[in-house]
Amino acid sequence: MGLVEEQVVIVTGAAKGIGRAYCEGLAREGAKVVAADIADCDDVIAAVEALGGEAVSVHADVSDLGSTEAMAAAAVERFGRIDALVNNAAFYMAVTHGPMEDVSLAEWDLCFDVNVKGPWLCSRAVVPAMKAQGRGRIVNIASMTVNDGTPGFPHYVASKAAIWGLTRSLAKELGPSGIAVNTLTPDYIPHNEEYAAQQPHVDEIITSKRAFRRTMVPEDMVGTMIYLLSPLSSFVTGQNIWVNGGSGFH
Ligand SMILES: NC(=O)c1ccc[n+]([C@@H]2O[C@H](COP(=O)([O-])OP(=O)(O)OC[C@H]3O[C@@H](n4cnc5c(N)ncnc54)[C@H](O)[C@@H]3O)[C@@H](O)[C@H]2O)c1
Repeated sequence: MGLVEEQVVIVTGAAKGIGRAYCEGLAREGAKVVAADIADCDDVIAAVEALGGEAVSVHADVSDLGSTEAMAAAAVERFGRIDALVNNAAFYMAVTHGPMEDVSLAEWDLCFDVNVKGPWLCSRAVVPAMKAQGRGRIVNIASMTVNDGTPGFPHYVASKAAIWGLTRSLAKELGPSGIAVNTLTPDYIPHNEEYAAQQPHVDEIITSKRAFRRTMVPEDMVGTMIYLLSPLSSFVTGQNIWVNGGSGFH
C-alpha cells in the first residue's frame, strides 16, 4: 500500500526536470497522475506506466484560465476526482540573468503570469472538485532564492516570494473546506546541463554552504512532496518546507 494510494494528483510542469521526478515518485506510491504541461509529456507517461502506474497527459498552459479549467475537467473525466495539485510549472530555465534593468517588461509579465497567476488559476480550477469531496491538497513550489535574495533575476525571485504569500492566504481560506495548502521550497538543482553550464561554479558555491555537501537532485524533493499529499501531514497547512540539505535555516 503506497502513501498516496489511489489519489488523483495533477502535476503541472510535468514534462521534465523536477516535475517528472514528482510524477514517477507519485506513481511508485500508488497515485494516479495527471501530467500537465505546455510541452509533450509522452515520455513521462511511458515512465509512469513502466513503473506499473496510471497517468494521463494534458496539454495545459497554467497562465490561461480556459486551459486550467480544461485541465481540471480532464482529470475528473479520466479519474473521477482530484485529490491533489502540485503547482510545479514555472518560467525558470529561460529566465534572463543580468542587471535588473535588462529584464524586459514582457519577460517580467511572463514570469508573473506563469509563476504567480498560474498557481492561482490552477488552484481556482481544482478547488470546486476538492470542496465537493470535502478534502484536497495543494502544494506550491517556491525557491531558496527568496531567502537568499539571489541577485541577477529579480522577476523570478519576486514571483517565488509571492508563492509564500499565496500559500498562506489560500490555506486560511480553504482550510475550513478541508483543503490543505503548503509551500515546498527547493534549493538549486542543476538537472539541466545546458542551464547549469550558463552558471559555472554556482552549484559548487551552494554545495559548499550546505550541511550535506553534495549536489541536489530532483529525487531529493520527492519524499517531502509525497509527505505533504499523504495522511502523514493531515494537520499541516500554510507551511513552507525548505528542502535544501541544510544550506539555510528558518
Ligand atoms: N531547478 C532548480 O534549481 C529549482 C530551484 C528552486 C525551485 N525550482 C522550482 O521548481 C519547479 C520545477 O523546476 P525545474 O527546474 O524542473 O524547471 P524546468 O524549467 O526544468 O521545468 C519547468 C516545466 O514547466 C513547464 N512550463 C513552463 N511554462 C509553462 C506553462 N505556462 N504552463 C504549463 N507548463 C509550463 C515547462 O515546459 C517545463 O516542463 C519550478 O517551479 C521552479 O521554479 C527549481
